[in-house]
Amino acid sequence: MQKFFINGGKRLYGKIKVDCAKNAILPIMAGAILVNGEVILENVPPYSDVLNMIEILKNLGISVLWQENNLIINARSIINSIVPSLLASTLRSSVFCLGPLLARMKSAKVAYPGGCDIGLRPIDMHISSLRLLGAKIVEKNGYIYANGENMQGSDIILDFPSVGATENIIMAGVLTEGITRIFNPAKEPEIEDLQNFLNSAGAKIEGAGTNMITIEGVKKLCSTKYKTIPDRITAGSYLLAVAMCGGEVEIDNFIAHHNHALLSKLAQSACQLDIEGDKIKVKAKGRLESIGEIETAVYPGFPTDLQPQMMALASISKGYSLFVENLFESRFHHVPELIKMNADIRFKSKVCVVSGREKLYGAEVNAHDLRGGMALVMAGLVAEGYTTISGINFIDRGYYHLEENLAMLGADIKRMEEVD
Ligand code: EPZ
Repeated sequence: MQKFFINGGKRLYGKIKVDCAKNAILPIMAGAILVNGEVILENVPPYSDVLNMIEILKNLGISVLWQENNLIINARSIINSIVPSLLASTLRSSVFCLGPLLARMKSAKVAYPGGCDIGLRPIDMHISSLRLLGAKIVEKNGYIYANGENMQGSDIILDFPSVGATENIIMAGVLTEGITRIFNPAKEPEIEDLQNFLNSAGAKIEGAGTNMITIEGVKKLCSTKYKTIPDRITAGSYLLAVAMCGGEVEIDNFIAHHNHALLSKLAQSACQLDIEGDKIKVKAKGRLESIGEIETAVYPGFPTDLQPQMMALASISKGYSLFVENLFESRFHHVPELIKMNADIRFKSKVCVVSGREKLYGAEVNAHDLRGGMALVMAGLVAEGYTTISGINFIDRGYYHLEENLAMLGADIKRMEEVD
């Protein structure tokens, strides 16, 4: 079992470049199922979620090859529409195969998805929306059995702007005859990226990022080459790490308007931010002012995927901070771990009150999910003494070369193989 071993207290200096976005790449990989030809995705980091998605595509009979850091996917060779539980349970994004398999193969047998343990994460909106498109769906023994022979474009109103449900509906509508309109869709940048990818292959989608997305069904999609947007959550995580540790770092491949909610929070906490094009320079020294109130919300509100990392910063900032987690019902697994490091956090249901401390101290802590794990890394970087973090397989789901990048900025962090 691997662990991170951190000797904290180092300031961070240098330059870092943000990788392509995990939550853009994963739905786009599922979208490649729709293309009867070659899809070249450029600069794909081998996140473990990406490696698991590759296994799912290969199991469908789809050819997937690495060409340096490009991913070459060719779904011309697709032979079945089954996503078995062993593969589906490795990540949430397996459910994104449902829509494209229905559209392309007119049938699907997909096991329930996995994903970080941050709540129940039902897929009822995915299922009900696909039924509105005419799919016949039965849920039995942990599998979704779906028949898409008689699908027809339709109007779909989402009760909640679910990211995954929006993505599944878009992909189901691309090869389905007629017009599909999604009202109250998710507006995250990754949705717009999926629209742009599919349109580059010949789809007819418009409205991503607005209150209504329209998909006009086409007969087929053709080969394309695409590079996704940078990962706004990775960028925000590095920004917060510098704010916590102090130092001066330039972050390249940074799209400011993808992170407005974070930037406005940091600007209030006396962290110096200079944005020039797709670069941001962050300068911080010592303890920041109170973070104030963080309420997670759908885009463009404060992202739930940065809540744990922001809480790590709050735990050593001045004064009190209030966190309200509105998206997931159990996304505070990092709290008991931060408390082991001397953080003063009280939590009840979806609310946390953090009283900033002068210092955190190294400890042996456990990551329970991807973003909570990153929060523990950040706390270890600033803590006095040594921190050991287990469960770093969760962190590998969405950060690539994390310890190498942080070490390059001056952090004392190593990946160790624990001899059982
Ligand atoms: C995507 O998950 C992201 N994952 C998550 O990132 C992110 O936290 C989330 O969107 C919100 O932004 C990927 O893109 C792979 P949702 P998703 O459907 O699609 C409820 C990370 O750390 N819901 O918008 O699962 C759900 O339970 C991950 O990178 C239903 O009730 O998010 C949750 O409470 C974590 N029924 C809320 O909606 C449904 O059918 C938001 O879920 C679907 C969702």
